[in-house]
Formats: sequence, structure tokens, C-alpha cells
Amino acid sequence: MAGKKILLIIGGGIAAFKSLDLIRRLRERGHSVTPVLTKAATEFVTPLSVSALAGEKVYQDLFDLNDEAEMGHIELSRAADLVVVAPATADLMGKMAAGLANDLASTLLMATDKRVLIAPSMNVRMWEHAATQRNLATLHEDGILTCGPNEGDMACGEFGFGRMAEPMEIVGAIEAAVNDGPLKGRHVLVTSGPTHEPIDPVRYIANRSSGAQGAAIARALLSLGAEVTFVTGPADVVAPMRVNLVAVQTAQQMLEAVNAALPADAAVFAAAVADWRMEHAADQKIKKDGNGLPVLAFAENPDILATVCAGTQKPKLVVGFAAETQNVVENATAKRKRKGCDWIVANDVSPSTGIMGGSENDVTLISKDGAEDWPRMGKDQVAQRLAEKIAEALG
Ligand code: C5P
Repeated sequence: MAGKKILLIIGGGIAAFKSLDLIRRLRERGHSVTPVLTKAATEFVTPLSVSALAGEKVYQDLFDLNDEAEMGHIELSRAADLVVVAPATADLMGKMAAGLANDLASTLLMATDKRVLIAPSMNVRMWEHAATQRNLATLHEDGILTCGPNEGDMACGEFGFGRMAEPMEIVGAIEAAVNDGPLKGRHVLVTSGPTHEPIDPVRYIANRSSGAQGAAIARALLSLGAEVTFVTGPADVVAPMRVNLVAVQTAQQMLEAVNAALPADAAVFAAAVADWRMEHAADQKIKKDGNGLPVLAFAENPDILATVCAGTQKPKLVVGFAAETQNVVENATAKRKRKGCDWIVANDVSPSTGIMGGSENDVTLISKDGAEDWPRMGKDQVAQRLAEKIAEALG
């Protein structure tokens, strides 16, 4: 990998000593490091040692920079390929989540237009504290990447989660974050999860899709450098970070979101869309009023995959899924033709397979050239293999 520019913000925690090694490891691999120390960090490592290892000036003071003609804080925050915070203390995470900018480090984090990776490090109680976990969730929503913390003995004598990730783990996360990958510059749309079709304000029709396979596909596409729009129904699994996330409930909303996300270079329709909705969902909760059973009238949902394939904005490669319980290959082959997509990932979702809601999948990839049977493997591995095939097909 060509050398990248890393802006490394060192927070004030005992793990700051590991950041000295992180600088060495990054430089050994051809990356350059511009270091920034918070005031608290200087209690743990000296600017002189950081600067000597980085071979660059250490930045510490916001007002120094404002006065300085050579580089202002905005420019400093944007000159890097990636901003890394290691160690990211509870205090720094809190500032980031709240959008505070009262020193150089927090101002750079607010001003940057680059991706940010944090390596949290703190006492286990501080890590588990509701405030830290709330901040972490906010940071994930904001697209901040995290590496660690790990579980283990802590400098304070306690044991648990809160140890900063080891320098080489952080190097790995940094390189994954700046990796261009074969899908760089490509936009891929992924649908995922079930849809919920309301019967009345409290009841709905749904299915058992967990959204695990769709989320894994989105992550695999991201790891190859794609920009991913992730349109998801109410899934059990958390949505991946760094996607353009569109959360929907119903099939009709999913179709609208998909249309709004086009154009795309490729699209993967992994959602388990409900085939039917209520013709008229009730405005109020349907009551047991002693007048017999309610009669539910259904209407057919739009077929999102078929609609996109027949439309003027059909992506170059469209991949559908076929969840079958019998004659998997025959049904999926017919489905590929009927829906007009390029590939179908077919799987047997009979309860005995444990696939729906499970962590593994056993798929057959159907294309115009026939059926390719893949061995049973983890959903992450299926996703990786599919993402690599998509990258190959887009060329
Ligand atoms: O017809 P069936 O539901 O088995 O087709 C599955 C494929 O079609 C999946 O890729 C699914 O995401 C997509 N689909 C859709 N809209 C629907 C139904 C299915 O996009 N209404």
C-alpha cells in the first residue's frame, strides 16, 4: 500500500506510551504521522519523544496554530488521509459525541472532512459507564470507526474491557480504513432485513429475516472500497458503520428509498420483502368487540427487484436472493429470468437448515452461465466472496 498521511491525536491516558510504538510501526510501513498532543497527553508522553519518533513537529496549541501563517487548524485537520485518536479517553469521546471544540484536538475532530478512527482506552468501569456507551453509540452513528478496546489487565490493577488495542491491531484498522480497494469510486446499493406491514397501529405482518446476511454484504463491499447505500427494514442486527443508511418499515417505503438511491453501479437485493400488505391498515387498534373475527384484505406489494430491473436506471449488475424451501436451483433459475436480474443467490431456508436467523449460509449462485454451488460457510464469508465477485464483474 502506498504511504498514507495519518493525523494522530494522542489523548491523555496511560496507554499513550503505546502510541509511541504505533508511530514507529506506521512509519516502518511507509506512512507519515503528524502528531497532536492534548494537554493531558503531555503528562504521559513528552512532545520531544513523540516528535523524534514521528520525524515531524508536534502540534499542541490551538492558538499557536491560529497565529501561525504556515498551517491553520482547518488545513491541519484536512491534510491527512485519516484522523486517528489513540488513546481515545472517555473525556475525548465525550467531547466528540457532544461536538465540543475547546482545544486543538477537539477542534481538529470537528473541522476535519476525513474519516476518523478511535482506539478507546480507559478503566473498565469508565468504559461500561452508561455515558461512555451512549457516546460510543453516537460516534458509531456519526460514522466514526473504532478499534478495540480489548479485554485484559489494566494499568490501574483492574481487569476487563478498556485496554487500548495493540499498536499492530491499530495499524491493521488504519490500513483497512484507508485501503482503496477494487470497488473504490463505485456506488453499490444493498437492501436488507424484513419489512413490517402494518395491520393497525400496533400490529404488523413480518418475517424471520434477521438482516445478518445483508449487513455482512454491506460490510464486505465497504472493505473493498465501495460507497454503500444500505436500505434496511427493521432488522435484528445493527447496521454497518460508514454506509448511507436509510431505515424503512414497509415494502412501499423500501421501493421509494431504492429509487431515491439510484443510480448505482451494482445492487444487491438481500431484503426479505413482504409479498403482501393490508389493503387498508386500520387507523386505530382493531378491537375484540364480540362481532366475530376480523377479515384482513391483502394487496400485493411492489416487487422492488423486478421494478428496478425493468427500469431505466437498472445498475450494471443486479443481484437478487431466492430463499426457497424446495427445488432450490430450479425455482431460483426461473426467478432470475422472471425478475430480470443478473445473478441470484439461492439458499434453502427450510427450518432444518438453521440458515434463517443463523450465522451460516449454504448458497448456490445462479447466473446466465448456470449454477455455482458454494460450500456452507459463515455469512461473512459468503458476503466477502460475493463482494469479490461483484468487484470482478464490474471490472
Ligand atoms: O419472489 P421472492 O420474494 O422469492 O424474491 C426474492 C428476491 O426478490 C430477493 O432478492 C428480494 O429482495 C426481492 N424482492 C423484492 N421485492 C419484493 C419481493 C422480493 O425486491 N416485493
